[in-house]
Amino acid sequence: MKLNDLVDRVGQEFEQIYGRSPRWIVAAPGRVNVIGEHTDYNDGFVLPMAIDRYAVLAADSRTDGKNVIRFHDASGAEPAFINLSAPITPGTPKWANYPRGVIAGYLARGINPGGLDVLLHSTVPLGGGLSSSAALEVSTATLLENVTGKKLDPVEKALLCQKAEHDFAGVPCGIMDQFISVMGQENHLLLLDCRSRKTQLVPMDDPAIGLFIVNSNVRHELGNSEYAKRRAQCESAAKILGVPSLRDATAVDLENARSKMSDVVFRRARHVISEIERTIHAAEGLRASNWTTVGQLMYASHRSLRDDYEVSCRELDAIVEISESIGIKGGIYGCRMTGGGFGGCTVALVKTEAVPGISKKMAEDYKAKTGIDASMFVTRPASGAVILKSRRAQSQPLQPGRTGWDEEEQLRSGPVARFRGRGPSIAEACSHVPGGLHPRMIGQDNFAFAGHFFQRHRLGSVSPRRHHHAKNTLVN
Ligand code: GLA
Repeated sequence: MKLNDLVDRVGQEFEQIYGRSPRWIVAAPGRVNVIGEHTDYNDGFVLPMAIDRYAVLAADSRTDGKNVIRFHDASGAEPAFINLSAPITPGTPKWANYPRGVIAGYLARGINPGGLDVLLHSTVPLGGGLSSSAALEVSTATLLENVTGKKLDPVEKALLCQKAEHDFAGVPCGIMDQFISVMGQENHLLLLDCRSRKTQLVPMDDPAIGLFIVNSNVRHELGNSEYAKRRAQCESAAKILGVPSLRDATAVDLENARSKMSDVVFRRARHVISEIERTIHAAEGLRASNWTTVGQLMYASHRSLRDDYEVSCRELDAIVEISESIGIKGGIYGCRMTGGGFGGCTVALVKTEAVPGISKKMAEDYKAKTGIDASMFVTRPASGAVILKSRRAQSQPLQPGRTGWDEEEQLRSGPVARFRGRGPSIAEACSHVPGGLHPRMIGQDNFAFAGHFFQRHRLGSVSPRRHHHAKNTLVN
């Protein structure tokens, strides 16, 4: 379902449950990691992208003044009640531990949304390794920021969500999932240096190339305990090597220290060290549209996760084998498991024109090999967390120091209707923005974008935040 349609749907569902329309609607995406698996907690590189599957939250202030956030889930899961007047701790229903942890984080920073009625509708498959939990955390964070008008720096926001997952869901995850859900950009992968937390956008806008996701539709229970074990094994390898983390070791260092560690610890480290290198090469390959190289790196990543890191499973291996048999001739450059492992999804780099044929063959062969029906879809890099409806109902007239972005109707009536006001020149409008947005200050791309919108839609004025938001979400 397209995000616009989803927003309409969630608005109607909110009305059915709460008897009025929502005042705020936000969304945060799930992700697929193209390469760089189990490297984030080793200070390495990851290369994920946001997918067009979202956790959407619609909300309004409570009408009875209670200091409680009431969460309904459109899928019919047990509703949750989070009392803001008492200390927030993990509880039941369990799915609400993600929002609980995020709300606790914002309250600790003095950001309090007050009592709310909320409806969740998520299209990120649960337990599919596509970060449905990060999508829920980041959408909660985005909602709180929308309601209160107080925004954290994006890095702090992602870290707060990661902490919620550690402390409230008991999963010692790395930073990848929350970062991409906050910072994803349409038509771009995000190369994230998990040590410096610096990001680089890697364009992926060739319509002939897509990412094909296959959900194995299995989830082996081992996942969480094995994840924690892998982290511990990596830490012990780093300790033996005398480095702060495996990011600091080379393949030669590891080979030289082989006799000092168990075979298992050696293989875990070999995966991480080689995967960090593959990720950097894959980013270079993508920039150069060198699909064959990227595909080979994806297959190599899968082999390393299967044999050295031992986080794959029979079903994921079956999908990768089928992909290899389809091959480049059949439209697949490469394929690998994605996410934590032990079930969930694979990601393949494909020729978009070949997707119908690939889907048919994959469905038949996977069923024949495993007896299970796979689900699959093709996706392109989508935008990160986004505000879809906000409390401000009126656009402001153009005045120095005022902003005039009409958020109320976003994504309901299309881009043109969202902007009001008389058309100033670009330079004039920029000069009115608090903080001094100016053509020379916003860079070539942004300037071009601003010009396009100011001229086409006769935009009244713009704020840097809205400008950034629009750039992320509205241009297509
Ligand atoms: C899970 C975690 C991430 C990352 C991946 C493996 O998705 O949440 O932080 O460690 O596994 O790459």
